[in-house]
Amino acid sequence: MAACPIVTIDGPSGSGKGTISRAVARRVGWHLLDSGALYRLVALAGTLAQVDPHDPGRHAALAQHMAVWFGTRSDGGEEVRLDGRDVTAEIRSEAAGQGASRVAAWPEVRSALLGRQRAFATPPGLVADGRDMGTVVFPGADLKIFLTATPEERALRRHKQLKDKGSDVSLPALSREIAGRDLRDQTRKVAPLKAAPDACVIDSTGLSVEAVTGRVLELMAARRLWP
Ligand code: DC
Repeated sequence: MAACPIVTIDGPSGSGKGTISRAVARRVGWHLLDSGALYRLVALAGTLAQVDPHDPGRHAALAQHMAVWFGTRSDGGEEVRLDGRDVTAEIRSEAAGQGASRVAAWPEVRSALLGRQRAFATPPGLVADGRDMGTVVFPGADLKIFLTATPEERALRRHKQLKDKGSDVSLPALSREIAGRDLRDQTRKVAPLKAAPDACVIDSTGLSVEAVTGRVLELMAARRLWP
């Protein structure tokens, strides 16, 4: 039995999970778990500590012991700290996403992050964003969403997001990287990206952030999770 109500939002890169999870959490006043950020932080911690990039055990130890802090800046933007250092911009690059997808395929790293992720479930409630939130981390969640969009739209969204953050990446190169990351996330042996059997699938292609957020809030209301 979870300590609080939980809504999970899983899906592939660029499906809008991050934006929608943040909007829903803010609207209902619940906590937010950005599990992808934890995998990004493990990959970055490994690079900073100059750990062998092929050593799952050393990365799992970092996953367990790294000091992580998630906060909000005065302008409303996110702030992420790793062992006291501001890594907000660093973890959002596509290279950090690729690193995250690589370390996320190791079972040792995934189990080292399990307890950390479950600890986010505190009252009044949790919106958990990731790839295996509804299947592995919170299988008893009160509402499970699986968010999708066409590969073209997902690449365009990621491209815009990266450009807005000042990163100059070509759209065809980004499309190839996203396709590679999706394939690795979907075909890994442990906790692959897939919809839970009891998940509500939302195809966000062509839909605004407000429309998708509204749909999730409707589903929450139908389950008496909110208001
Ligand atoms: O959501 P994101 O782009 O920040 O995630 C980065 C990578 O981390 C993603 O390619 C796969 C991995 N990941 C995962 O395996 N399980 C999660 N729950 C979240 C992310």
